Amino acid sequence: KRHLISAADLTRDDAVLILDTAEEMARVADRPIKKLPTLRGLTVVNLFFEDSTRTRISFEAAAKRLSADVINFSAKGSSVSKGESLKDTALTLEAMGADAVVIRHHASGAPYRLATSGWIDSAVVNAGDGTHEHPTQALLDAFTMRRRLVGRDAGLGKDLGGRRITIVGDVLHSRVARSNVHLLHTLGAEVTLVAPPTLVPIGVETWPCEVSYSLDDVLPKSDAVMMLRVQRERMNAAFFPTEREYSRRYGLDGDRMAKMPEHAIVMHPGPMNRGMEITAQVADSDRCTAVEQVANGVSTRMAVLYLLLGGSEPAVTTTPAAPA
Ligand code: CP
Repeated sequence: KRHLISAADLTRDDAVLILDTAEEMARVADRPIKKLPTLRGLTVVNLFFEDSTRTRISFEAAAKRLSADVINFSAKGSSVSKGESLKDTALTLEAMGADAVVIRHHASGAPYRLATSGWIDSAVVNAGDGTHEHPTQALLDAFTMRRRLVGRDAGLGKDLGGRRITIVGDVLHSRVARSNVHLLHTLGAEVTLVAPPTLVPIGVETWPCEVSYSLDDVLPKSDAVMMLRVQRERMNAAFFPTEREYSRRYGLDGDRMAKMPEHAIVMHPGPMNRGMEITAQVADSDRCTAVEQVANGVSTRMAVLYLLLGGSEPAVTTTPAAPA
């Protein structure tokens, strides 16, 4: 059984195949009838132990567009609040016949545990685990960058070779940053992290990227600037400069955005702290791809579910087969 636990596990060819398949899936989204029969009869369980808006809805839309049955499980209001373990929750899902489990969990490593425990026979997709990884976010981000920086058709079969991507902010707590660093490096991009020294993870020198403490120096050399959410819920107050100081040094406002090359885009995985890491002016500007990233997330997650569960049939038939 195949799983998607970490962006670091993907080869360049794996990643390009997912991005190309996502482009095929996006064609479905452009049609009046947005559904494919590919996963009819299969069941996808969304198992969310942590809050989510985009990822949960996006996986649900992706599975439904592939005609799978979807079960949404949220830890809040379930027997998890009575102390039920991950193992017993997993066994319950297995008994209900899950073919894929999409899991978000506050503990780094929970999706890996689920995939390797032998408790369930389903494919496991990591939808964000603690501060570890969020691989489908990195894939949808790479999809968005490839479309914007290489081109929708011109990008097919291509990676992000030579593109300069800057990731800014609370790297310490960010599974999005970790997944993006690995995937972007695999796709040939040059990645620079910009963060206050207290929000840079220990061991970052082993990551395949540069680290800078000056946003103003890096902006003119960036093709895409990804602003990270400041994760106050995971924050120890001692780690954090004041909000005002943070915004002044690491926030993206209109003046800073003007230092970026004209073609460069601003990204944000959401949810945004408007006024903290990004001003409303930047968030609402046509250079910011945050909403586009959400739309691209559905196509990307369709591609992931299709490749994990869908077998070898072509996802989308664009030309009718020739008569026999
Ligand atoms: N980007 C992201 O993971 O958003 P949610 O927490 O809303 O799923």
